[in-house]
Amino acid sequence: MAEEAIGHVCPPSVIRWLNNPIRKLIQNPRKIMGEHVSPGDTVVDLGCGGGFFSVALAKMVGVNGRVIAVDLQNEMLDITRDFAVKNGVLERITLHRCKSNDIDLSDEKVDFVLAFYMVHEVPDRKAFLRQVSELLKPNAHFMMIEPSHHVTAEQFDQILNEAGSAGLKQLRPLRMILSRGMLFGLTSTNETHSS
Ligand SMILES: C[S@@+](CC[C@H](N)C(=O)[O-])C[C@H]1O[C@@H](n2cnc3c(N)ncnc32)[C@H](O)[C@@H]1O
Repeated sequence: MAEEAIGHVCPPSVIRWLNNPIRKLIQNPRKIMGEHVSPGDTVVDLGCGGGFFSVALAKMVGVNGRVIAVDLQNEMLDITRDFAVKNGVLERITLHRCKSNDIDLSDEKVDFVLAFYMVHEVPDRKAFLRQVSELLKPNAHFMMIEPSHHVTAEQFDQILNEAGSAGLKQLRPLRMILSRGMLFGLTSTNETHSS
């Protein structure tokens, strides 16, 4: 089968740099997501890159939890696998290769979804955000963080509007250096449909 054409996405060379331990000083996964993730949860890391957050999430969900690490680039999933092995958490992580316009997890309902520095790379954001809302259990949260050097305040507002149309309710903005972020839940209409 022919390989799907992929638009501009972050290359693996940048990801190797993003996986450096100093990153934890400014983007500490436990501080950012800890209150939304519990032991035993099933969580999704969309655009997992090299697994910086997938591995941290795997530690948070513990032995009874599961992390679905999703990326459209095989090389990213390979880097995530190596990083998970190094940290002894591979058995909690499912590596899932998606398509650029299809997360392809329609059978899943999960407790938490993360999209860190990836939504601006998605070609059809409306379809993508709709699929995110369909992944969430009724009380689950979706955390979206975008890099402020790639996404202007106006562009971020546009994404927030698209998220609203996709059934995602803004819960609170997330303050983080060099970033723009929002925590979402489901709108009540969507909750009714998905429960
Ligand atoms: C800038 S990197 C961020 C990686 C990771 N979230 C982190 O913060 O370290 C963006 C990642 O999103 C992935 N990506 C881009 N578009 C995607 C899409 N439509 N579906 C899934 N992954 C995508 C890229 O392959 C890349 O690994």
